[in-house]
Amino acid sequence: MTDLDAFIVGLPKAELHLHIEGSLEPELMFELARRNRVAIPFASVEAIRAAYAFSNLQDFLDIYYAGANVLRTEEDFRDLALAYFTRAAADGVAHAEIFFDPQTHTDRGIPFDVVMRGLLAGMADAEARFGLTSKLILCFLRHLDEDAAFATLAQAEKWFGQIAGVGLDSSEVGHPPAKFARVFAAAGAAGLKRVAHAGEEGPPAYIYEALDLLHIDRLDHGNRALEDAALVERLAREGMTLTVCPLSNLKLCVVKDLADHPIDRMLALGLAATINSDDPAYFGGYIAENYRAVAQARGLSRAALLRLARNSFTGSFLTEAEKAHHLASIDVYAATQG
Ligand code: HPA
Ligand code: ZN
Repeated sequence: MTDLDAFIVGLPKAELHLHIEGSLEPELMFELARRNRVAIPFASVEAIRAAYAFSNLQDFLDIYYAGANVLRTEEDFRDLALAYFTRAAADGVAHAEIFFDPQTHTDRGIPFDVVMRGLLAGMADAEARFGLTSKLILCFLRHLDEDAAFATLAQAEKWFGQIAGVGLDSSEVGHPPAKFARVFAAAGAAGLKRVAHAGEEGPPAYIYEALDLLHIDRLDHGNRALEDAALVERLAREGMTLTVCPLSNLKLCVVKDLADHPIDRMLALGLAATINSDDPAYFGGYIAENYRAVAQARGLSRAALLRLARNSFTGSFLTEAEKAHHLASIDVYAATQG
């Protein structure tokens, strides 16, 4: 392990942008297909990996939804979650706020409660085994209509005590945040936090809608904010956390090369950017690899890496006391690394 790798792995950090279905590794996909007697259109683990060449978000989503088809039972969701947390813990993640896409499962006849019980079991195991805490964020699929999102919110209601917030993911262009203004208002009224993917492929106007119509507490991706100086100024002034995903940006062609990645520009502009892995099984790396790859490509300083890790706790949905505890652990780490 290089000094940089060791520094990154040892750095206490939170992961704020992780789709649990996107952490389904080909090996587990194969095992679950066998266990559940589900046919998958791949002959081998290698064939699955070879299919992971994407030219845009939709290319990826098509294969990501097909992969999720092997997830059937509570045990499957528990195994999926625990596999992610095991990788995250090894990367020095102390806290994770993970997305799940219930509609991907309920539309295949898998009960909402099966998904919830499985994920919560994996989360409890992760806390017991690794001391890794976590929260759940329910994402609405934006290619579906708002009535479907309302139906999902109704199914979630009895679990509100176990769900930190709602999010918005899937195909961005053509599905602006405005489409979900009423269901986000209902989620907010129920006391849930609100986040949304915006400005990954969609224009800055979608980020304004996420702010003004969805009243988001955190912005997922947000890369295209950089096209609008007034928007950047506002996001910085409001202290809005951006959950940036470097390897995802590379694999989905949001950036041509990691050498062009705007992470350090975001920090220089005063944006509260964080580093996350998005769909690590599909994009070639968990959180430490995202830090490492972009640090190397952009020549990030240790101070910048510490800032990114601090932002991950400040931007989390932990209590102020919990945030202070994690920020203090970063201070201790920084002092010992001096
Ligand atoms: N963008 C939109 N939807 C998604 C993503 C993403 O990066 N990952 C999983 N669903
Ligand atoms: Zn995402």
